[in-house]
Amino acid sequence: MTEIVGFSGSTHRPSSTRTLVDTVVKAIHSADTATAQVFDVLDLGDSFGSARSRGDLSASAEALFSRVEKADVLVVGSPVYNASYSGLFKHFFDLMAPDALRYKLICLTATGGADRHALVLEQHMRPLFGFFGALSMPTSVFAARQDFRDGVLSSPAVVDRISRLARELKLFQPVERWPLDDMREFSTAEADDAPILPGAMAAALPAHRNSCARSSQTDGEI
Ligand SMILES: Cc1cc2nc3c(=O)[nH]c(=O)nc-3n(C[C@H](O)[C@H](O)[C@H](O)COP(=O)(O)O)c2cc1C
Repeated sequence: MTEIVGFSGSTHRPSSTRTLVDTVVKAIHSADTATAQVFDVLDLGDSFGSARSRGDLSASAEALFSRVEKADVLVVGSPVYNASYSGLFKHFFDLMAPDALRYKLICLTATGGADRHALVLEQHMRPLFGFFGALSMPTSVFAARQDFRDGVLSSPAVVDRISRLARELKLFQPVERWPLDDMREFSTAEADDAPILPGAMAAALPAHRNSCARSSQTDGEI
């Protein structure tokens, strides 16, 4: 059973960020193989904003943190605030240990007033999850105000991008559950050498290595 968790860093309801996260979670969810839960900053309750450490959180907020840490796939979303993610989105991840999200599959999403700041996904969000050693999907999804109508995502281009993300995620999903607990026991140096790629990617790797070897031989001849 794959566990999908969505987190929106917006404090508004209704919220276009929450709608986007919900839409992505629905797109990647397949009823027989996955459980899904989406929550936002308000669901974390009053203890969250002033928490300096995990010990300051209420039991219900701590349960949501631990749900995120145990998830197989995490869909994260933030409204753009002054050209970056919201402060409370970052605060959520500031309360996590640096290795809490290692090797977790992450779908990156954000919403903004217009397309002007769409690169917040690449310039701010992707580096944040890179710090955690998480595996962010190559396709990220940005939606602007004009991409929603009556609280529903209505842009065919954004919906297409979500389908691409959903297809892409399948490439990374394991035939069987990843042995993440085993992987966490490796030091960083050992993990670099470990065969961590599952399924289709692992199958593709020998072919890729062979083609690299062939091209370096060719380079030598030239
Ligand atoms: C404090 C604040 C700062 C904002 N800064 C930006 C910005 O820099 N660029 C942008 O495109 N939109 C900006 N916006 C607009 C929000 O990103 C946009 O309305 C977002 O979709 C709201 O998401 P929500 O409905 O989930 O709260 C800002 C909104 C607020 C409240």
